[in-house]
Amino acid sequence: MVARVIPVDPFDLVVFGGTGDLAKRKILPGLYIRFLAGQMPEEARIIGAARSDLDDAGYRAIVAAAIDEFVPQAKRDAAVIERFLARIHYVAIDAVGEGGWKALAAHMRPGVVRAFYFSVAPSLFGDLAERLHAHKIADADSRIVVEKPFGRDLASARALNAVLAAHFDEKQIYRIDHYLGKETVQNLMAVRFANILFEPLWNAQYVDHVQITVAETVGVGGRGSYYDKSGAMRDMVQNHMMQLLCLIAMEPPYQFDPDAVRDEKLKVIRALEPVGPEDIVRGQYRARPADDGKAEPSYLEDVDNASSRTESYIALKVRVANWRWQGTPFYLRTGKKLRARTSEIAIVFKEAPHSIFGENESWKANVLAIRLQPNEGMNLSVMIKEPGPGGMRLTDVPLDMSFADALGEEGMDIPDAYERLIMDVIRGNQTLFMRGDEVEAAWAWTDPIIEGWDARGDRPKGYDPGSSGPEDALMLLHRDGRRWREIRG
Ligand code: NDP
Ligand code: BG6
Repeated sequence: MVARVIPVDPFDLVVFGGTGDLAKRKILPGLYIRFLAGQMPEEARIIGAARSDLDDAGYRAIVAAAIDEFVPQAKRDAAVIERFLARIHYVAIDAVGEGGWKALAAHMRPGVVRAFYFSVAPSLFGDLAERLHAHKIADADSRIVVEKPFGRDLASARALNAVLAAHFDEKQIYRIDHYLGKETVQNLMAVRFANILFEPLWNAQYVDHVQITVAETVGVGGRGSYYDKSGAMRDMVQNHMMQLLCLIAMEPPYQFDPDAVRDEKLKVIRALEPVGPEDIVRGQYRARPADDGKAEPSYLEDVDNASSRTESYIALKVRVANWRWQGTPFYLRTGKKLRARTSEIAIVFKEAPHSIFGENESWKANVLAIRLQPNEGMNLSVMIKEPGPGGMRLTDVPLDMSFADALGEEGMDIPDAYERLIMDVIRGNQTLFMRGDEVEAAWAWTDPIIEGWDARGDRPKGYDPGSSGPEDALMLLHRDGRRWREIRG
């Protein structure tokens, strides 16, 4: 099955921070792949903007190197790269100074979509918005794309929303959460709302609990100074995992429209109960000793802060206080340096109310697992009779739908989240972007949790690299008579 490609309208996309890490790893390679796919029209232009003193040729060399490094070889076509590079320009600009703004204004073309990607440090977002407005570079139809983190608490998120709102309408602001651009995350909505099968069961009467796991094998080395001020709660839970939780827990929107979807997500966030210390486990990875393969530094060494209490792992038991989910907890966990890289949502249904087959391990079955990465797909495990003459013995088997098997190799040519999201910006579709009130509500829930452990002076528990996290996290479920699913790549 080949994905349909509908070209977007011609555009001028200015990438502030166009020489930075995110631009090189995700934004520019993503744009090239959309160009290769025929989705980005020949009339489109990408204008890199940063302080470095470069001309178009110098910047094109940077973009070419980024394509070389971050686009898979099978997609690197010299002739297409050359045509793509001809669409690339550069303007040297300082977000906090006056240099370059007039040149940028002169560069913009009338009659095409104007989009401005803020891929710079969050402290510069306000300056960019102000100057785009002051120099009349943005028009009423222009869009700004704002990277994460969007604030570090409710007060800073509100302040940032206010600065952006002074110059742009909410309809022009695209707050990125790249998890919303992941194919399987969107599929979650398709599965829930395009099939009748699941909806009758999608509530506390039939769902015992939900597990959301985002496990990573990488540590925080290289990003230590950012990460140590953030931690897993701010870095992953407040945004990415919150979005996943919302998509599972929300009511069906009346249509697939940006505000209809975001209204429903907002209701979920507002219904989240406060989380007490007994429902939180935080962890920090230890060093990997040399006798365990290659020695690796501990979290404290990675962030160069021996007294850090920041968590590289967190597990939480979360309750959604509404009719649908009363009594069904959502267990969330995420961490660095865990056993495998895997992101998975598991809807664990209740066991049959009465077993006519005697003792069996039916807790293993009745699980709908949605794998976000790797090996995107869905798996529904059910109990069946064990084959053979051994009587009525039961076993669990997967009804497995790997997207790769179902859709074939071409169907699996899934765009990276950034590719999808940037094209949505040009199309003017905000469905997969966070609205200002949503972000504020997420911080309003997050702040007291963080303030709580700060006030108590809680220290994260140590865990070994390559493990499933701190031992205490197991207890979070054991004490409720439940168990985590295995972290498997
Ligand atoms: P980098 O530090 O790698 O890049 C920063 C960019 O901003 C450079 O192009 C730099 O170029 C430019 N810049 C710095 N100061 C100014 C200024 N005063 N005026 C204009 N341009 C300036 O950062 P990242 O690319 O890693 O991150 C960019 C944004 O994306 C951040 O908000 C980050 O939180 C977010 N993000 C990044 C991720 C990643 O994986 N890298 C993941 C998720 C979010 P120059 O020095 O030439 O001006
Ligand atoms: C980013 C976080 O937003 O998401 C990182 O800042 C994390 O710490 C990353 O590693 C995970 O994204 P993905 O797409 O690799 O699961």
